[in-house]
Amino acid sequence: MRRYSRITGTGSYVPPRRLSNADLVTQLAANGVETSDEWIVERTGIRARHFVDDGVYSSDLAVEACKGALQAAGLEAKDIDLIIVATSTPDMVFPSTACILQNKLGANGGAAFDVQAVCSGFVYALTVADAMIQTGAANKALVVGAEVFSRLLDFQDRTTCVLFGDGAGAVVLEASETPGILASDLHADGKHVGILCVPGHVANGHILGDPLLKMDGQAVFKLAVGVLESAARATLAKAGKTEADIDWLIPHQANIRIMQSTAKKLKLPMDKVVVTVDQHGNTSAASIPLALDAAVRAGQVKPGQTLMLEGVGGGFTWGAVLLTL
Ligand code: ACO
Repeated sequence: MRRYSRITGTGSYVPPRRLSNADLVTQLAANGVETSDEWIVERTGIRARHFVDDGVYSSDLAVEACKGALQAAGLEAKDIDLIIVATSTPDMVFPSTACILQNKLGANGGAAFDVQAVCSGFVYALTVADAMIQTGAANKALVVGAEVFSRLLDFQDRTTCVLFGDGAGAVVLEASETPGILASDLHADGKHVGILCVPGHVANGHILGDPLLKMDGQAVFKLAVGVLESAARATLAKAGKTEADIDWLIPHQANIRIMQSTAKKLKLPMDKVVVTVDQHGNTSAASIPLALDAAVRAGQVKPGQTLMLEGVGGGFTWGAVLLTL
């Protein structure tokens, strides 16, 4: 009998320090940087984001998200034999945040590694975990997106520092006789490295190059709307489905205008799109599992429904996963 993988639990966590646009506007003004709630809401749909305090790392946020996902799946940490963490803000250069998370959860012994695909990280990680479960390399996985993007922001650059937030989301993915994940489609085009990057690196005991986020927002916007449509269509075709089969679109939460444009191209009304960017900002690899968990816990997204998850981000990377919950 063919093995499939299926999501059996979701969880998420945002750090308690919440900054509304008004809070951020005041904080930035103290440093001579001018922005406004109106500009941020109109251009992005973001109204608030959460930032970690000093000493809190991606693995700390991931632990809380995983506890929620394990509880929802009715599993304990020791049942898990694979942990994949999608992050661009790891706790350390090495070892992986997945290993640190594994130890904090008490899930020691199984495989654990990180995936680096920036904001597409969660759909990449989910696709890898699905493949490992289908081949029998794993049985019960935690697939996590966890980020502390606040650490990468240049608070003198108003074109980027208003966009991002911190958080984590997780799913338990288990082997199943019935299909959960139906199809996925991943891509990257490395010629666009420069339009969204943190160019600095560690060398000889120093940080060489700029360790803060750089983005050409308009170039990212244009690429994002094109590839999100093509990835969704390719994934539907692989699964033998059409747009009409999608109950919920859960796109990367970067900008409401990108989501509206994608929904329009896929002929989906906005009431079929899960939107949390207003409350979380762009949490990179954490944004899709954060949105998924919020929608599950709100009773919006229900078992048996068909979901299209879509990520896009630095690299340039993009991809989609179609699944039945
Ligand atoms: N507050 C006030 N004014 C601002 C701000 C701000 N925070 N930021 C920029 N402006 C000004 C600019 O200086 C410019 O002023 P000017 O016309 O006097 O020169 C004006 O607003 C318009 O700037 P644009 O860059 O043209 O604004 P745009 O409408 O393109 O919106 C934005 C910018 C929101 C960044 C948009 O381009 C966007 O969302 N791009 C996609 C970004 C994205 O999704 N990134 C995440 C990708 S996922 C990942 O991998 C991390």
